[in-house]
Amino acid sequence: MNPFSRILASGHAVPPRILTNADLEKIVDTSDSWIVERTGIRQRHIAEPGSALSDLAMDAAQQALDKAGISAEDVDLIIAGTVTADMKFPSLACLVQEKLGANNAAAFDLSAACSGFLYGLHIANSLMQTAGYKHVLVIAAEMLSSMINWQDRNTCVLFGDGAGAVVLGPADDNRGILSTYMKSDGRHHGLLYNPGGSQRPLTHELIDSNEATIHMEGREVFRHAVVSMTDALHEALKLAQIAPEALTLLIPHQANVRIIEAIGKRFKIAPEKVYVNVDRFGNTSAASIPIALDEALSTGHIQPGDVVGLVTFGAGLTWSSSIIRF
Ligand code: ACO
Repeated sequence: MNPFSRILASGHAVPPRILTNADLEKIVDTSDSWIVERTGIRQRHIAEPGSALSDLAMDAAQQALDKAGISAEDVDLIIAGTVTADMKFPSLACLVQEKLGANNAAAFDLSAACSGFLYGLHIANSLMQTAGYKHVLVIAAEMLSSMINWQDRNTCVLFGDGAGAVVLGPADDNRGILSTYMKSDGRHHGLLYNPGGSQRPLTHELIDSNEATIHMEGREVFRHAVVSMTDALHEALKLAQIAPEALTLLIPHQANVRIIEAIGKRFKIAPEKVYVNVDRFGNTSAASIPIALDEALSTGHIQPGDVVGLVTFGAGLTWSSSIIRF
């Protein structure tokens, strides 16, 4: 199968401030050992209140453009996956467009929670085939700290802030995106959500009661995550006609090390071929895969010719995957 587009380069950015499990022990009734044992998370980066997600996203995107040797004016489409844009509108993608000076692009956001990056990759790859876009920035950026209830130990230990980006260009022979897949099931939207939209506009009552924060049924989300990510990876492998053992590296969404290990085991992929950085970043939602991908590329974990699997799951419920030959 000949790919149509490929990842030319990537970038990532996180806020400098680190919040450790020891720091969280001072805020809620939790412990480093509980968090590490149940999630694998040891620390996360948290933005200063009032800082702009578009700055992090711009930083990640600019790194990707610089590495690819592409000027911002040559970008013709910007897709940003996020649920925590600087403001309700205009889109994060438009704000990043302005900051980059990508004045010849169309720009829009998509809302697929933790699946935002791979949904964006799927759409970008499709639009490059059908609508003639040549250089597409796919950005995923989240500042979930802005919607965390710091009194809820069930959720506040899990998340971190960050941004990742890739720039796509035309495929090079057999190197590029071999398959993309996305799916959702809105019947389970109540398992993970953040109120405070048009149905329940932000009021003093909603904010003061800590209602306008992340609500999650952790155990159910965990169960669905394993089932859905298994489905997603299976579908992407089938579409790409690649066997699991042919994957050089698997980069799963970095939500929880137990979910990551469960996926690796289901596909009999050796632990050393499964990328993990959730210990250092926590769950950065849509940004987790491009952050991990950029780390893997810049540290030599991915070499030319390697076949890499990406798979994710998030609120919606949504799930998505891709197989890429680098
Ligand atoms: N510290 C100490 N104790 C805690 C903490 C904490 N931070 N959080 C919960 N507990 C307690 C609970 O109150 C409960 O106590 P109880 O038995 O006295 O009632 C006990 O620990 C067990 O709670 P569970 O929720 O059953 O714990 P579980 O083993 O399921 O682990 C967790 C919870 C880590 C959230 C797990 O369910 C999980 O990882 N789920 C997936 C959720 C996820 O990753 N969401 C991210 C968003 S979706 C995505 O990105 C894909």
